Amino acid sequence: METVLITGANRGLGLEFVRQYNAAGWRVFACCREPTGAAARDLNMLAGTSGRRVTVHRLDVANHAQVDQLALSLKREAIDVLINNAGVQGPNEDFGKTDYKRFAQTLAINVLAPMKVAEAFAGHLAASRRKVLATISSRMGSIGLTTGDTAIAYRTSKAAANMVAKNLAGLLGPLGITVLALSPGWVKTDMGGANAPLDVPTSVAAVRAIVARATAAESGKFFHYDGTDLPW
Ligand SMILES: NC(=O)c1ccc[n+]([C@@H]2O[C@H](COP(=O)([O-])OP(=O)(O)OC[C@H]3O[C@@H](n4cnc5c(N)ncnc54)[C@H](OP(=O)(O)O)[C@@H]3O)[C@@H](O)[C@H]2O)c1
Repeated sequence: METVLITGANRGLGLEFVRQYNAAGWRVFACCREPTGAAARDLNMLAGTSGRRVTVHRLDVANHAQVDQLALSLKREAIDVLINNAGVQGPNEDFGKTDYKRFAQTLAINVLAPMKVAEAFAGHLAASRRKVLATISSRMGSIGLTTGDTAIAYRTSKAAANMVAKNLAGLLGPLGITVLALSPGWVKTDMGGANAPLDVPTSVAAVRAIVARATAAESGKFFHYDGTDLPW
């Protein structure tokens, strides 16, 4: 049975990744910050009806000790696909009023965490058949496409997350691991808001399709959910 680990799995895109991989018969390690709280109710209900294929694990991706602990507790597991999905939008104040504490927290979650998770789980991926590490990035992280002047913390974090992914592709290539940076499009979630044009199942199905067909030739690339290449 194929196995996927998903961070930020209690709501939004992460929860839908759990739903779709579960429906496809995969084993799912669904990670979230508060597995016992109300925020994980839907995830726990899904896990409860999955015939134990979906298991829920505590993981605050900014807590590196917790990342190491989870990697250790899953050390005998081969993980075919790992999705670095957890993310935050970060602060968006007017120029001159930047909240640097929240800016740094945004970088810790959107940039450092995917790197830390990759370091902790490279062995689990290398032991699997598919060996795909995907970071959910954003078109807003494309420096080439950026013309705006908003969301500098978020844009910067996703541009840096792309650089992490690009470097990981080189570092993990010798282990046979394919590393992707994937933009899910603008999606109706808590983060994307109600005006987003894409619904969650459509975005997640499209991202899963890219992951499913990924080979070493695609490693180190930045794809939009529709499969087109995005400029860095
Ligand atoms: N929606 C869009 O239009 C869009 C567009 C481009 C990219 N993305 C990216 O897609 C990913 C998922 O976004 P979404 O739209 O599903 O957002 P969302 O609805 O706001 O969900 C974010 C998820 O990340 C989790 N998370 C945040 N900080 C975390 C931490 N320190 N440790 C573990 N989990 C943490 C949240 O958990 P809690 O419930 O505990 O807060 C939640 O499960 C993000 O990386 C986002 O940047 C989204």
